[in-house]
Amino acid sequence: MVTPIEQRFIDLHPGSAERHEKARDLFPDGVTHDARRQKPFQLYYTHAEGAAKWDVDGNKILDYFPGHGALMLGHSHPDIVKAVQDQMAKGTHFAGSTEMEIRWGELVRELIPSAEKVRFHSSGTEADMMAIRMARAYTGKNKIIKFEDHFHGWNDYLVAGSEGLGGIPKATLDTMVLLPINDISVVEKALQNDDDIAGIILEPTGAHMGAIPILPSFLQELRDVTERYGVVLIFDEVVTGFRTSKGGAQELYGITPDVTTLAKILGGGLPGGAVCGKADIINMIETTDDPEWNSTRRISHNGTFNANPLSAAAGIKMLELVSTTPVNDTANARAAQLKDGLNDLLSKMEIPGCCNGVASLLFLSMGLDHECDKEICIISPEDRKKATDPARNQQLNLAMQNHGVQASTRFILTAAHTEEDINYTIDAFEKGLTEVREQGLI
Ligand SMILES: Cc1ncc(COP(=O)(O)O)c(C=O)c1O
Repeated sequence: MVTPIEQRFIDLHPGSAERHEKARDLFPDGVTHDARRQKPFQLYYTHAEGAAKWDVDGNKILDYFPGHGALMLGHSHPDIVKAVQDQMAKGTHFAGSTEMEIRWGELVRELIPSAEKVRFHSSGTEADMMAIRMARAYTGKNKIIKFEDHFHGWNDYLVAGSEGLGGIPKATLDTMVLLPINDISVVEKALQNDDDIAGIILEPTGAHMGAIPILPSFLQELRDVTERYGVVLIFDEVVTGFRTSKGGAQELYGITPDVTTLAKILGGGLPGGAVCGKADIINMIETTDDPEWNSTRRISHNGTFNANPLSAAAGIKMLELVSTTPVNDTANARAAQLKDGLNDLLSKMEIPGCCNGVASLLFLSMGLDHECDKEICIISPEDRKKATDPARNQQLNLAMQNHGVQASTRFILTAAHTEEDINYTIDAFEKGLTEVREQGLI
């Protein structure tokens, strides 16, 4: 049965429905990224500017998933457009080194506290894959600890514990140790009982961009325990890098990992990734005069589009603007406005829950009465299950798109969101939540 919200969605988006039919025949699920699956169909976009994008039916959508988190300045920032256009005319690939890669690397080192040395990649998945390999090569050990629900891209090792594991050798998954967060005694026990652990990787604000938050005190405990056991601590700052603060979560919380992975904002809206950190560890890629080292210890690393000129041009401009202008402050201020507005709305509508989050990443949790500081909202896994209702969230997601907002329970803010955008969004949520309530889901 089609719900009233779904019917309105279908009526408003005939052009997207038509394209989805074609795409279903061409792509698995009709999409090119698992996160873009949406029932009854996903929207097709034509162009974007600032905080908004437009679909093929001419609907304007305020974007709270801007470039999957890559677009800290919003869509099509004029300085980035110009930098990329200028570079396009000069050449997109020299199969060689450029001065731009040096500038890009220097900016990473200036901004990210742990970055002594840098290596560019083309995506966060690749950067994370390299980071765990560096941990293994550096320590001579085999296993990696990751935390439940933490996302590190789609490489064979780091998807351990999630769904969709087809085709991965059991031996690969057996090298991953999956642990719960926020309990250092569990981590310490794992390290005590297994001397084959090379590294620990985590999203430093918590799983799914911070939706299941980590206590900053746990980060410090991890730093201490990894130092004691000689294990490489890896912060996956693919999302939080340049966002949670200019220097990422590590700068915000004053905890320096051994290795950091970056992507998203790093590339200024174009593909890009990097691994940076302690020189000794990043230098596992470096060749030496020792043939034995070069053959069996060093990590070889190629990649056609590593530090390619277009991504470098966009990334340099993005990082320069992050470094020299109040990009983060603006995004954080809009996030604070949205958080207050949504918490007031929940109270007004007598919906138990909260809007929480740090810096410019917010999360909406509904269905559970609880106390929290609206920043780091810690609830038990059982309570989290109670507060997660996929049917409700799916209807809310469609209802919000009907009202011109792409967001339901996660919000990624940019410096391009305006105060008016936030006011519009809060009003749209009141309408969306009312419609979901009318369907009996709240
Ligand atoms: C924390 C985190 N790590 C890694 C990745 C993978 O990055 P990419 O999609 O660039 O491969 C993502 C992607 O969303 C991410 O959120």
